[in-house]
Amino acid sequence: MRKPSETNVIEYDEAGTAEVLTARTRPLPAAGPGEVTVEVICAGISHIDGFIRSGREATWEAEPFPRRSGSDFAGIVVDSSDPRFARGSDVVGHVRSGAQASYLTVPAAALVKKPKSVSWETAGGAYLAGVTALDTLDDLRIGAGDTVVISAAAGGVGSIEAQLACHRGATVIGTCGERNFDYLRQLKIIPVKYGEGIADRIRAAAPGGVTAFIDNFGQDGHELARALGVPESRYRSSEDRREVELRLLQDDSESVAHGTKQLEMLMELAAAQAFHLLISGYYPFDDVGLAYADLERLHSRGKVVLGTHPVSTYRFLKARDVHDQRS
Ligand SMILES: NC(=O)c1ccc[n+]([C@@H]2O[C@H](COP(=O)([O-])OP(=O)(O)OC[C@H]3O[C@@H](n4cnc5c(N)ncnc54)[C@H](OP(=O)(O)O)[C@@H]3O)[C@@H](O)[C@H]2O)c1
Repeated sequence: MRKPSETNVIEYDEAGTAEVLTARTRPLPAAGPGEVTVEVICAGISHIDGFIRSGREATWEAEPFPRRSGSDFAGIVVDSSDPRFARGSDVVGHVRSGAQASYLTVPAAALVKKPKSVSWETAGGAYLAGVTALDTLDDLRIGAGDTVVISAAAGGVGSIEAQLACHRGATVIGTCGERNFDYLRQLKIIPVKYGEGIADRIRAAAPGGVTAFIDNFGQDGHELARALGVPESRYRSSEDRREVELRLLQDDSESVAHGTKQLEMLMELAAAQAFHLLISGYYPFDDVGLAYADLERLHSRGKVVLGTHPVSTYRFLKARDVHDQRS
């Protein structure tokens, strides 16, 4: 395995929509002490990348341009100064930005081993969505005896959150459109259609009452949780969720260690099949703009990811396209 000296990275020179994203070839720093160089196989696509790119996040104002995109990745170690991650190891990791790249040099502290049974797509899309889900469930101490409502339960964060809540023994009600009813039922989640009349539909689905509410979508969550009698301490808004995601992108050693510890737990849960991450959008690296356009339609099932080594760039019709053509 030859050590690479260059990497293809997704960068941008100004705030804006996904149209500002561009692929560039840049020198790749060699792995120094405590660092590892990874050949990226899959990288995640998340809404927070778009919020940051658009200039909406004040905490990123001081970051110089060009900026890099993406924070979740999975790949193969090509150079390492850390005995835990020998060359050829399969790893999963996180960075503040710049995961959408062919090669990355990162601190070993931001990596965990990828279990063989976890697919590259799941591992590459796991960090932000999965650790946000895990942190939120931990924060609310969701467990057996809970009946929790999770909004956007078929999406990236919601589908992991809902499955892990079930795994902890909670009864889970997931809000979604009708097209996702069968998908959620297969995950043992009780589907409830969002929109007008939702409070009554949730009451009918949870005759014993609702003990917690996690709002991923961020429209009517707070009012609805109050109407259902959920205590304030057991409600988390999409704004709280945004804060969780932004914390996961901080690069001080304490935040990185927290993210890595939770990522390791997430990989153990994935290997134990406590959750399955459906990949409903898989795009070649150069189609990063299309991948964000897909996500921004707000009807993804599971995750949208980028692959650096797609077997074919031929684009297949996806299940949701078939659905959209019918409706
Ligand atoms: N406030 C914030 O700062 C903040 C932070 C992060 C994320 N978010 C938002 O939270 C949402 C979910 O996040 P994600 O990362 O899991 O995204 P995602 O994967 O894009 O979520 C898509 C899911 O949202 C569902 N959905 C669409 N309209 C809905 C509605 N009115 N009520 C409930 N669910 C609805 C869709 O279900 P159907 O296809 O069945 O409609 C789809 O499964 C995204 O829309 C994102 O923009 C907000």
